Amino acid sequence: MNVYDSSQIARMLALSGYEVTPFMEQADLIFLNTCSIREKAEQKVYSFLGRLARLKRKNGDLIIAAGGCVAQQEGSKMLQRMPHLDLVVGTHAYHRLPWMIQKIESKKCRIVDVELAETIDEEEPFINPAKGGEDNGVTNFVTIMRGCDNFCAYCVVPYVRGREISRDPANIIQEVKMLVSNGVREVTLLGQNVNSFGKKEGKALFPELLSRLNEIKGLLRIRFTTSHPKDLSNDLINAFGKLNKLCHHIHLPVQSGSDRILSLMNRKYSRRQYIKKILKLRRVCPDIAITTDIIVGFPGETSDDFKQTLDLIQEVSYDNWFAFKYSDRPQTRAIKLTDKLSEDVKADRLQQVLEKQKKQTFLKNQTLIGTTQTVLVEGTSKREKNRPSKIDCHKVQWSGRTSTNRIVNFLTDNGAGLEDSIFPGALVSVRINEAYANSLFGSAMSVIQDKVELKGENSNAA
Ligand code: 5AD
Ligand code: SF4
Repeated sequence: MNVYDSSQIARMLALSGYEVTPFMEQADLIFLNTCSIREKAEQKVYSFLGRLARLKRKNGDLIIAAGGCVAQQEGSKMLQRMPHLDLVVGTHAYHRLPWMIQKIESKKCRIVDVELAETIDEEEPFINPAKGGEDNGVTNFVTIMRGCDNFCAYCVVPYVRGREISRDPANIIQEVKMLVSNGVREVTLLGQNVNSFGKKEGKALFPELLSRLNEIKGLLRIRFTTSHPKDLSNDLINAFGKLNKLCHHIHLPVQSGSDRILSLMNRKYSRRQYIKKILKLRRVCPDIAITTDIIVGFPGETSDDFKQTLDLIQEVSYDNWFAFKYSDRPQTRAIKLTDKLSEDVKADRLQQVLEKQKKQTFLKNQTLIGTTQTVLVEGTSKREKNRPSKIDCHKVQWSGRTSTNRIVNFLTDNGAGLEDSIFPGALVSVRINEAYANSLFGSAMSVIQDKVELKGENSNAA
């Protein structure tokens, strides 16, 4: 979500005449987009901003701005703590950036704007989508909602991103059509909890939005993130069996395997209910990749609670997971809990979860050696170190993802005659020859789909 927001911020700043430079020392304006999900991210913000004081001393006209969740959370406190900071912009205020920048440029004033809006669609950033994601021209993020009403006990998101609001489905469809006519082939729909999309607004629920997007000609793949297990409906599970463009991957954060901790976390599902949903997903879509988030060391987590988390990881047999040490966040319910664990215990548990993750992802990837996977090509590979030493260095190494979200680097086999027919946006059948912890390596067998002819299909989107 922050990557997407950064692209919107860059677009807003472009309206004021700014363009992106890779050289921070030469910048006229430095915008730091911040994250406050965990304490460590927030500490990094302040140390980075602290280091910028030197550049401001060298160039008095330099504008330094902070946006994102730390900005939203801290507001004017941030200006007080950082005397060289000019602007603090909250998560709902980016569409006012050109106005704010103009004011700072002309009046040399300092501004704080952390107002949380009640609506979403009329905000300028969404009307004309910028490139999001990795800017590869093939894949793009699309925000479909923002905010969150779940108030999980550890989480700061509802306080810094506001109440849950969904965009109008018609606007989302229009945005995706426009992206497709610009060459995008895969969209990732973003929201804190996309499963509850449209519930308040009553226009279309998430499975219906997906099936309408599935109809868009030229769009090859749809992904979404992230889902709350309590809101994962049967209709959404069934969509994995029905919609040919919906990728076979779901990120379903479980957080803990202990019912006692899940209840303290205010997650509103039990371990049993969670596993039942996993089984249903696998029944509907047997090769679906399932990933998750785990928090270790939530206040009061005993070694038995932690063991239940390790057991659950084993039982579900996840394809991958992210794990975090619990950290106190302002305003949340968990900050008031008394039974906090020591840093040592949390670090030890994190280590155990991460070791398991490394082993498991490697083993899962190994099972794919010898299979043929459909890969949407995103570009050439950045990971030259993954190139087996016997391979000719002059050959282009392509990179893309499987429907199950695994990175695949590949070459065109001598003799397959595919050297000139692969390009970003093509769907290619790749035989997997090698597997690593974070990627697969293979050789192209055939091109399944190359150029997409739109013939004015999505022209009403322009
Ligand atoms: N401490 C540790 N991890 C957290 N997360 C959210 N809040 C906290 C916190 N206070 C993790 C959750 C969530 C992911 C995005 O970040 O696992 O799913
Ligand atoms: Fe935070 Fe996700 Fe819970 Fe919302 S659903 S409060 S974003 S962890």
